[in-house]
Amino acid sequence: MSDLLSQIDKTRLPRHIAIIMDGNGRWAKEQGQDRLFGHFHGVESVRNIVEGCAELGVEYLTLYAFSTENWDRPEYEVVGLMELLVSTIRGEVESLHKNNIRLHVIGDMNMLPDYARKELEEALAYTQNNTGLNLVMALSYSGRWELLNAVKSIAHKVKKGELAVEDIDQDTLQQHLVTSGLPDPELMIRTSGEYRISNFLLYQLAYAELYFTQVRWPDFRKQHLYEAIIDYQGRERRFGKTGEQMKELSH
Ligand code: IPE
Ligand code: IPE
Ligand code: MG
Repeated sequence: MSDLLSQIDKTRLPRHIAIIMDGNGRWAKEQGQDRLFGHFHGVESVRNIVEGCAELGVEYLTLYAFSTENWDRPEYEVVGLMELLVSTIRGEVESLHKNNIRLHVIGDMNMLPDYARKELEEALAYTQNNTGLNLVMALSYSGRWELLNAVKSIAHKVKKGELAVEDIDQDTLQQHLVTSGLPDPELMIRTSGEYRISNFLLYQLAYAELYFTQVRWPDFRKQHLYEAIIDYQGRERRFGKTGEQMKELSH
């Protein structure tokens, strides 16, 4: 593992890593256990990866924990996930704070049960002055929900005469997303062998490098994170330009 770590170029780290934490249910089923058992073990992976990112000096880590579509899962699973969320936040907030980590939440907070929203709001306030890793939890989040809201609030401003249609540009749109103020992720990791985005950060992932691994989320550890970063560092990001142009730019 230390060998993998030494292969990472610390001067070329992604500033922002986003992860779709997938495969908890299958991990549990493979052991003849209930899906909630998988979610429970997924928390250990969250701890490990948050620590790994903080140690490396990654500035932003966004974790997709619950999508707007996940509300349609069986009720016992939704309730179990909400309870796990609350107990995890309660148990971890002190350690986040000690490590100078600032918590953020993106998503439709109105959908969360009151007790969960309250717990989150307290944790957000408690860590708001921290200056280390920004840990962004995507909860009750989806890219389409976010874009719809952005369009609505821009339309309201136009209607009230606060904004002219001609003045709407990419910055306007970005400012109305729930991620305003956060840089776009350079690296997006999805665990558990699914090759899709599942409504995650649809706008922000435009030029992200995508990395897929078969490893199920409850088995995902720092060494897997390092593998993803090494893979990322071996790629050429061209942003629509030619490889030759990119080489000239880097000189
Ligand atoms: C990811 O694991 C966690 C959530 C979506 C809440 P899953 O629960 O999707 O696990 P699989 O994909 O069914 O194995
Ligand atoms: C995406 O995983 C959402 C989270 C990891 C929170 P899903 O398991 O819900 O996605 P699909 O249904 O396989 O696309
Ligand atoms: Mg899944």
